[in-house]
Amino acid sequence: MCGIIGVASIGAKDAALANITLDALKSLEYRGYDSVGMASMDSSHLEVRKAAGNVEKFERLKNPLNMKGNIFLGHTRWATHGEPNDINAHPHLDCTGEIAVIHNGTVLNFLELKQDLIAKGHRFVSDTDTEVIAHLIEHYRKLGMDNFTAFKQAIFSIQGDHAVLAIIKGDNRIFFSKKNNPLVIGLGDDMNLISSDVWSLVKVTNRTITIGDDELGYITATSVYAEKITGEKVNLTSRLIIQQIDSSATSLQGYESFMMKEIRESWGAVRDTIVGLMNDMEKLGKAVKAMDKARRILVVAAGTSYHAGLIFASRLMRTGKTVIPVIASEYENVKAGGEDVVLVISQSGETMDSLLAMKSFKNSGSFVVSLTNTLGNSISYYSDIALHTRAGPEIGVAATKTFTSQVGALLLISSLMIGENLDYLKEAESTVSSSFSKSIGYAEKIGVDVSKKQSLYYLGKGLGVPMAMEGALKIKEIAYIHAEAYPAGESKHGPIALVEKDFPVIFVNTGEHVDELRNNLKEMQSRKARVYVVSAGSELRSDQEVTEIMIDINDARLAPLALAPPLQLIAYYAAKERGLNPDRPRNLAKTVTVR
Ligand code: F6R
Repeated sequence: MCGIIGVASIGAKDAALANITLDALKSLEYRGYDSVGMASMDSSHLEVRKAAGNVEKFERLKNPLNMKGNIFLGHTRWATHGEPNDINAHPHLDCTGEIAVIHNGTVLNFLELKQDLIAKGHRFVSDTDTEVIAHLIEHYRKLGMDNFTAFKQAIFSIQGDHAVLAIIKGDNRIFFSKKNNPLVIGLGDDMNLISSDVWSLVKVTNRTITIGDDELGYITATSVYAEKITGEKVNLTSRLIIQQIDSSATSLQGYESFMMKEIRESWGAVRDTIVGLMNDMEKLGKAVKAMDKARRILVVAAGTSYHAGLIFASRLMRTGKTVIPVIASEYENVKAGGEDVVLVISQSGETMDSLLAMKSFKNSGSFVVSLTNTLGNSISYYSDIALHTRAGPEIGVAATKTFTSQVGALLLISSLMIGENLDYLKEAESTVSSSFSKSIGYAEKIGVDVSKKQSLYYLGKGLGVPMAMEGALKIKEIAYIHAEAYPAGESKHGPIALVEKDFPVIFVNTGEHVDELRNNLKEMQSRKARVYVVSAGSELRSDQEVTEIMIDINDARLAPLALAPPLQLIAYYAAKERGLNPDRPRNLAKTVTVR
């Protein structure tokens, strides 16, 4: 996935600018932590330092704070082509050492380009696809093109989705190109920045500009320029967004992990989300009206956001509305048209699968409503109505407060569609906060217990099913415990075959179908399973053998909000007990910008 940052300044330079770049890399590290590198440049020199490992290791080994220059690039890598080692780390240089390139994406045709360039005399040092971009720029410059034209020709030569930054010695511009991978400009004082995400910019500036796909251009310390690949000039300043982000939210502030900090921030996030959406009733009303009138609503999302979408879909399907949940990467299985509305849900607003699905549905004429957690991200940029959760930056790779905020937002939107009184949502914040306080002790006990197991089931009914799916996903991704979620009634149609003495089963009870769930619980107990229950609204337990977290709620519709903290905490404590860092699960990145 990779995180990229570029900074051009006429004020701060050398260590001060290196520090800004390094800080940005730390907040981009969630996008990949295989290797890290930086380039620094002024009118007379260009230097690159890079190393395998994370930002902290890079800082220790390469001492980037003594790099000199008024233009910096930084890159944190999630390896695709070439193993994570020092040489394959970005930035990559051309043969002359005058051109440095960083890249997030894939050059699909890199092998043929590489062979062609080698035949022309270019020497390659890495196994990466990225290196061809530096050599292509060199090649076109040698043909007599000016720097920007050479950069553009290089971009026109490569195939595949990308965000690319390049610098050329003696030129005060950072060249950029974006195609389906995130890239955003930040306007500072005497300084401009360009990065994979808004969160890495907010310590420096809250003024950002969204770059569209198939746009390319450059920034300097004092100017920004972009054009479409067709050559048409882009009016970037008309896209200026003032971000409302508290930059302190991106630091640990004394917590031992971002995941715990962010679970603790989830009730404030739910409150801010609901209030924020209701403060713009005109926009929300338009989205609701569009979905009301639609022949079908397609809910498109991936991972945790998909689970939030299932809650929305279930609530509306119960009223007879046709809602089709679509896993973003499987969008080709559904044909949509002009009478359909697509609701795309994504905390990052940059997930490639969701972005491609939404673009395809939009091209078939569907109206698109999005729900994302930042302003100016690609998904909101391409949607017809962009709604936002207000969870603030989420640094832990596992989605926690953004999920709970999505659930809050989707309860509100579905209630408006169903015509329900919204008074119950006044208790959304207190439901989440009291659930956290009530469940943390029990969740730790359950987490520690299941941490010793290889495998477990999460079983639910009704809205408990998507919550069970979310619980299972959380424990898989951060504690590396195999977990599967099923509708409880479905367990007897196969999964129960695995259940033997002490096999752990977590029931997720929304209080709606207590009798049926209790039957399923008994079935598990009869096979001597080790049963745990997470309940909202009504108790399920029938004997003292069962550990039950029981959260009181004043309205059954609040159950998903009440169930989120204990399910997240169980996974958190299981990971902790296994000695794992919950913020950085292996093989994962926070924003998945590959297909
Ligand atoms: C799980 C998790 C992922 C994301 C998924 C979609 O904790 O974070 O499953 O939910 O990659 O990401 P967004 O919501 O950014 O589209």
